[in-house]
Amino acid sequence: MASNENKHPNSSVLQGENLYEVIYASNATHLMSQDDLIQLLLQCRKNNPPLELTGMLLYRAGYFLQVLEGPKECIDHMYHRIAKDVRHKNLSLLVYDKILSRSFSEWSMGFVAVDSRCEQLEEFFNLLYRNLLENKMSECKQSVYNMFKEFRSGSLRGLIK
Ligand SMILES: Cc1cc2nc3c(=O)[nH]c(=O)nc-3n(C[C@H](O)[C@H](O)[C@H](O)COP(=O)(O)O)c2cc1C
Repeated sequence: MASNENKHPNSSVLQGENLYEVIYASNATHLMSQDDLIQLLLQCRKNNPPLELTGMLLYRAGYFLQVLEGPKECIDHMYHRIAKDVRHKNLSLLVYDKILSRSFSEWSMGFVAVDSRCEQLEEFFNLLYRNLLENKMSECKQSVYNMFKEFRSGSLRGLIK
């Protein structure tokens, strides 16, 4: 999953009023192979730049977590499209907010495969999905915010491909 074709040259241009972010979690309908994930990322990296969408996708053994940022109408359009995708189900919308600037402006869709090499992220996913199962939405939102803070500027940023 080479990262260079994923760089988004113009995405920092759009700032301010119309900028939104969506974060959702979902369950994959089947375990995604490396090839499945590459196909999915190719779709994202083809479609997102013309819509000025940037973001990040995390995948861990049957679970997705995605953040998308961009113009409100493009976010709405893409979220509805993604929600219909049969590769996943049980979408939980965790964040839908206006933002002042992008956190993932370099990535049309950054990707992190979460596995045992990153204990901190595995623990995060375990907690997040336990809270989702128990419908503890405010705990979910808080933990997602905390984790993305690490991706925005902290130690986890280097994991994004
Ligand atoms: C977890 C998940 C995240 C996705 N994220 C995106 C995305 O950011 N951009 C995108 O174009 N498609 C995304 N898709 C795929 C869309 O649902 C849809 O299949 C795709 O946009 C269709 O593109 P095409 O018409 O070029 O084949 C995602 C699908 C899944 C399952």
